Amino acid sequence: LDNGVGHLPPLGYSTWNDLSCSGMSEEGVLSAAESLRRTGLQKRGYVYVNLDDCWQDPLGRDATGRLQADPQRFPSGMHGLSKTLHERGFKFGVYTDRGRRTCAGREGSQGFETLDAQTFAEWGVDFVKEDNCRSLSGPNNKSELFAQFALFRDALNKTGTPIFFSVCGGGDQLPFSNLTYYASDERGGKKLANSWRITSDVTGSWTLRFAYKVDASLREYAGPGGFNDPDMLLGSSPGAARRLGPHQSRTQFSLWAILMAPMLLGADVRQLTPFDLETYSNEEVLKVSQDSFAQQGSLLTVKGSTSLWGRPLVDGAWAVLFLNEGWFWKRKVTCSKRCWSKMSFKRNSTVHLQDLWSQWLPHSDIGVGQASRAAQASGAGLVGQVAQTLQGADGVGR
Ligand code: DGJ
Repeated sequence: LDNGVGHLPPLGYSTWNDLSCSGMSEEGVLSAAESLRRTGLQKRGYVYVNLDDCWQDPLGRDATGRLQADPQRFPSGMHGLSKTLHERGFKFGVYTDRGRRTCAGREGSQGFETLDAQTFAEWGVDFVKEDNCRSLSGPNNKSELFAQFALFRDALNKTGTPIFFSVCGGGDQLPFSNLTYYASDERGGKKLANSWRITSDVTGSWTLRFAYKVDASLREYAGPGGFNDPDMLLGSSPGAARRLGPHQSRTQFSLWAILMAPMLLGADVRQLTPFDLETYSNEEVLKVSQDSFAQQGSLLTVKGSTSLWGRPLVDGAWAVLFLNEGWFWKRKVTCSKRCWSKMSFKRNSTVHLQDLWSQWLPHSDIGVGQASRAAQASGAGLVGQVAQTLQGADGVGR
């Protein structure tokens, strides 16, 4: 969307998978922000602090028809919270719904689009997520859906405040594939928003798998100002209701970087494991996510549970992901002539490789010996070596 924001995917935190509805509170939001500061993630770019469903007063709008925060849970109100977060160097995100009610039954924006957009702008909101629950003719009526989302888009634009606009359909309980029209419909994609959900809520390895398949096919719709959104990063903290294994979580992060997806942490950021913190802090993978060429990556080749993904970068290099979804720790993956040509490399050309997940810092080379061997190796053989160096599980090289 050409609204002056979202040239690159947003980095930050969202409350939904962490606080859900029952745990929503000002204290919870501020402690999450404090954790982003304390862990150094804020400095690395994770600045959006986004409130999802259930920040609204369960009793409804105020006497003038304006949305208001739950006074018990958000004693400073939205304006107060926004001010505090801004003073601490964060950006402030809120959530609403195109229907009369949100998925959790709070006040939605239907019929109040202009007023709500103005209210958000007055609060200093930087990010709005609009969901797809409880609408008049159901979640599946496309003309109503696009018309209502467009109303909100236009209302936000009219405020003159640049606000990242994210549309969501995860709550409509449709089969995932139905959500792809958010990107591909002529009224959708970058015409409509800065990001659009393309899957239902990401909950585990199976949905993760689906997310990347869908995202690869929707590559053409993404670009500067608009991104396919396969939902939040889950993390691997023990005890979290929705979580992945540590290596799955690192894989998700690598894949989201290649797919140019929004990088919103859904985990309890107060209790990130050291492994997850290292994952989310990886500057070089973050650089791939935030590359200014802003081209979404795609699948280069796949064989069984092993695949190779590539994303072109601004300096002419390619970020490559070796993805191993199988049970075996080590896997070999071969890039054929066709696979190399997708990256505009000749098969036998000499390429220089960096392993962005190597345990050695800086992650600049695969290792002295191997790097020089790599420089001499032919393309296909080289990829096999790198996959082994990366120990098969997950990694971005370039
Ligand atoms: C459904 C969405 O897919 C979730 O991300 C979250 O926003 C919930 N609705 C909130 O009710």
